[in-house]
Amino acid sequence: MYLIGVDLGGTEIKTGLVSKDKGIINKVAIPTEANLGAKKVTENIIKTIKLVAEDNLNRVEGIGIGSPGSIDRDHGIVRYAPNLPFHNFELAHSISEELKIPTFVENDANAFALGEWYFGSAQGLKHFVALTLGTGIGGGVVSHGILITGKDGIGTELGHVIVDPDGPLCGCGSRGCIEAIASAKNTARWAKEFTVKIPDNKVVELAGSIDAIESKHVFMALEQGDFVAQMVVDKITDALAKAIANFVHIFNPEMIIIGGGMSKAGKFLINPIREKVNLYLMPSFRNSFKIMLSSLVEDAGILGASAAAMYHSR
Ligand code: BGC
Ligand code: NA
Ligand code: ZN
Repeated sequence: MYLIGVDLGGTEIKTGLVSKDKGIINKVAIPTEANLGAKKVTENIIKTIKLVAEDNLNRVEGIGIGSPGSIDRDHGIVRYAPNLPFHNFELAHSISEELKIPTFVENDANAFALGEWYFGSAQGLKHFVALTLGTGIGGGVVSHGILITGKDGIGTELGHVIVDPDGPLCGCGSRGCIEAIASAKNTARWAKEFTVKIPDNKVVELAGSIDAIESKHVFMALEQGDFVAQMVVDKITDALAKAIANFVHIFNPEMIIIGGGMSKAGKFLINPIREKVNLYLMPSFRNSFKIMLSSLVEDAGILGASAAAMYHSR
């Protein structure tokens, strides 16, 4: 038997046919076409499912969809999602009705946490915090062996934890959320700002022009010992370390798992976080947990979404 995992993003839908023991059997990615509305996005999701399932659709037990934003998982409704045309949209129902397969929707970062739990770094753990560092920053928490979702199901928005009340404005309307400081987009923004003051640096050299700077150029330049890259990485890892210390004080986890596009920076991202986090912890919490990179990398979204289907149908 199989599962389908759908990693629904603002620009791309990545869908995989997943076997519980063998992992991803087949996968596809197509543009989301978010600008064409909810109906079109739903049609695109269904198209990807049919593409990856081929002749196996009747052997698919469940479909899981990981979507950014606030999800009412009991009713399969996307209440609000930044960058997607969904407002109180019955996404699960629209798909299960068409394909006659049970369908579950989960917050993308919660799905990531479940994926790491079933397939990745968190196997066998009961207490861990997962963070996805991408265009946005998402969080998922498993505590005492349960995925924490809160009263309305929309909890663990860890990217919007505030570490600098006077900091930059976030997409959510607050100031100084870790997303506003350390997302991929904002990592690039710091590099652009610093380049205006210090134009002679490796980040802009690698990017080709100031407008072309992306977070990956910052980490490439850091590898070459660039001073501007160092300033940017100090800034974002300090914000992340503060937030992680808060999560450790609240949840007393066994592990913090870091994924999302930015985690490709590997030790250049994780080592400074490991160093800085101890500065913000009570002595009894120091070295009480591990900070690890996602082991699922590119496939974390698809596997996470399929894990959400397993978790919610158990
Ligand atoms: C959203 C979260 C989402 C995260 C990653 C944040 O901006 O608020 O719901 O999990 O981005 O996509
Ligand atoms: Na979450
Ligand atoms: Zn925010």
